[in-house]
Amino acid sequence: MAKIAVYPGSFDPVTNGHLDIIERSNNIFDKVIVAVFNNHTKKPLFEMEERVKMLKQAVKEYDSVEVDCFTGLLTTYLKQKEAKVIVRGLRAVSDFESEFQMASMNKKLASDIETIFMMTSTEYAYLSSSIVKEVASFEGCVRDLIPEFIIDRLFDRLRERDLLI
Ligand code: PNS
Repeated sequence: MAKIAVYPGSFDPVTNGHLDIIERSNNIFDKVIVAVFNNHTKKPLFEMEERVKMLKQAVKEYDSVEVDCFTGLLTTYLKQKEAKVIVRGLRAVSDFESEFQMASMNKKLASDIETIFMMTSTEYAYLSSSIVKEVASFEGCVRDLIPEFIIDRLFDRLRERDLLI
């Protein structure tokens, strides 16, 4: 049976840290599904369709990486996809508490699904979509933090939303 892993997240937008985790997961699993969570309670900078589109472009070199989106419980989504593994990247100690809570809840909801954590490569240990958006909002340089093709889109979107400070 093919080993399928789901790498879930908001990806608003995808960063080079996410891509590092995707590449490394792709080396381990037969198939990796990058699943964009459509969170109705949060107003993202990029609509779900745009996040999916950017991710698809960013991972196009990997044949066994698929990009999809989901609403509702992550464990329900994994069952639909017949996947048994959730991949999450772990940066600093500060990530641990919320990741521990999520993994424990997912275990309670579906005991046959495992969460595995990958330590982020040290060069991306400080990186998150939020900090990239913050730096960009002050017109700081985000080169090497997100894929090149997203940089202009990020600044355009911040400008459209009147978020450039
Ligand atoms: O990139 P993020 O925002 O850290 O990703 C969080 C995400 C999408 C993985 C998490 O919020 C999630 O799995 N949401 C789906 C809803 C769910 O299953 N919640 C219960 C278990 S945490």
